[in-house]
This record gives sequence, structure tokens and C-alpha cells, in this order.
Amino acid sequence: MTLMPTQPEIPNASDRQFAVAERECAVISNDAVNAEYRMLVLSAPPVFTAAQPGQFFHLLCPRGGGEAPFFRRPMSVYRVDPDKGEVAFLYKVTGAGTESMAALRPGDGFNILGPLGIGFDLPDGIRHVLLLARGVGLATLAPLAQVVAARPDVRATAIFSARKPEFLMSVDYMAAHGVDVVGVTDSEGTSAVDRVESLMRDLLAGGNGVPPVDAIYTCGSNRLMRLAQKLAAERGIFGQVAMEQQMACGLGMCFCCVRDFNVGGDIVHRRVCCEGPVFDLQEAVSW
Ligand SMILES: Cc1cc2nc3c(=O)[nH]c(=O)nc-3n(C[C@H](O)[C@H](O)[C@H](O)COP(=O)(O)OP(=O)(O)OC[C@H]3O[C@@H](n4cnc5c(N)ncnc54)[C@H](O)[C@@H]3O)c2cc1C
Ligand code: FES
Repeated sequence: MTLMPTQPEIPNASDRQFAVAERECAVISNDAVNAEYRMLVLSAPPVFTAAQPGQFFHLLCPRGGGEAPFFRRPMSVYRVDPDKGEVAFLYKVTGAGTESMAALRPGDGFNILGPLGIGFDLPDGIRHVLLLARGVGLATLAPLAQVVAARPDVRATAIFSARKPEFLMSVDYMAAHGVDVVGVTDSEGTSAVDRVESLMRDLLAGGNGVPPVDAIYTCGSNRLMRLAQKLAAERGIFGQVAMEQQMACGLGMCFCCVRDFNVGGDIVHRRVCCEGPVFDLQEAVSW
């Protein structure tokens, strides 16, 4: 394995031109979904509702009880509704930034920048996609349901993993878009990797009129990503992973979000904010 210098080019940048804007948006709602997660819905202009699944926004979290977070916080777009002019984020309160987001009330202003990064691809010819997510990774994969629903030729199954059943979010939302959802949880003893592997092998085999899974999308778990890499490599099928990394600028300038990728045996460095956050499944290096 050789070390390669950071690659300055954004892959396929020429055919991925997106408008980006910074705006103060009005909060429509900001409600608890369960004990850990909340959903923030903002009024948004068309430049924001054009966000693609897998892209993210950089959020200027307001001053909470203490100091205001200095850097913006990255958040995947969870849902867009161009007709209503809304974008939504599903988030977990983990620290100062998300705590201050949780205090936003309807009518408050919230400054967001985006849409940023490169989202998911759904290549022509794919017949059955598998969405494999854990924890907050559900928020990143959920908008793929809207894309799949618009493609009647594509079937979708989701395996969502969480600590407890109450943290399995988006199940109704996915089902409403025609996605078959299988929930696995730690508390029920159903989320072990070998059990998920068995579920995935059944889906990869297809049968009874169901086409075999021929594309895998994953987010939110190192061990599930490694499992997806193994099974997608065995079958030679398409796959993508949405990676997380702490960010500062979110725009490709500061290089604080660089991760290693394995490209044909060479380790290359890529910025998650602008060369991702969605990457080729087989090139991702586990963390
Ligand atoms: C592209 C992208 C999309 C994301 N989408 C979502 C989403 O849809 N919903 C959601 O809830 N969260 C999402 N995150 C994670 C979110 O950005 C962090 O939870 C948030 O920045 C935490 O900010 P904070 O000020 O509340 O906590 P902080 O005080 O900054 O951090 C709290 C703890 O979380 C860790 N942490 C912070 N950011 C990250 C990160 N990016 N990766 C791993 N650990 C981190 C810190 O090390 C610390 O231990 C996403 C991150 C990225 C990079
Ligand atoms: S966050 Fe600055 S380059 Fe990615």
C-alpha cells in the first residue's frame, strides 16, 4: 500500500453543479420524536428544497445558555418539500450546538448554509436497493425513499438498527414511500452482525418474485459498513456510504474533515465536506 497526496479534484465535479446559499429561515416546528431525537422543520427557498439525498446543510447554531458554538454544525437533509417550501432535519442532541437547536421555537430565525456536498447516486438499471442504517444514519438515508418512490421500476428494502425499538425512526415515513422496513434492535437481541448478515443474504438472493438486491446504501455504523462492503464485493454490486466527520468550513477550504480512502490499494485523502459525504462503498476505510 502506498501513500498518495491529497487529491485536489472533486470527483465528477463538472457534472455536479448545485446552487448554494446562506439564509435565515423561519422555524415552523421543532418537536421531540423520542427521548433522544428531534425534528426541525424550516421554511425554505427553492435553492434549499433542491437539496439531494445525502447532501447536508451547515447550521449556525444559536447561543444557548452558555457560549454560542463557534463553527457551524453539519446536518444531513432529512426531507424536502418544494411545494410547501420546507426542509427538515432529524437530529440527536449531543452537545452545545444541538442543545441550542433544541431550544428553537416556531417563528424563530435559524441561519443555514447549503445544500453542500455530493449526495447519493441511483444508477439506471438498479432494481432493488437496500438501505442499511444505524442510529442517526437513518436521517441521512431516509430521503432516498422519496427518490425510490419516484422510480416505480426500483424496489427498496431498509434494515434499520437501533439500541431500542423507540429509536427506530422514519419507519412510517419509509413505508408510506413503499419501502419495506426491517427493524433490528440491541434490546431485542436482533441487531447482531451475523443476524443482519443473514437478512442481507436473503435479500441479495431474491426470489418469490422479488429481484435480488443490486445496490446497497449505508450510514451510521462502522460494523454495518464493513458487512456491506463484504457482501457487495462478493456480489460485485454497486454501493455507497455516507461518512461523518467533524467539520469547520464545510466548503473544502480548511481540510479539517479529511479521511483516508483505499483506491485500488493506494491510500488517498479526501475531504468529506466537498468530495463526499457520500463515497464509493468499497473505497471507504473503516474508523
Ligand atoms: C455530513 C454530516 C451529516 C450529519 N447529519 C446528521 C443528522 O442528520 N442528524 C444528526 O443528529 N447528526 C448529524 N451529524 C452529526 C452532527 O453534525 C453532530 O452531532 C453535531 O455537529 C454535534 O454538535 P454539538 O455542538 O451538538 O456537539 P459537540 O459538542 O460538537 O459534540 C458532541 C459529541 O459528538 C461528537 N461529534 C460531533 N460531531 C461529530 C461528527 N460529525 N461525527 C462524529 N462525532 C461527532 C463530538 O466529538 C462530541 O463527542 C452529521 C454530521 C455530518 C458530518
Ligand atoms: S470542513 Fe473545511 S475542508 Fe471540509
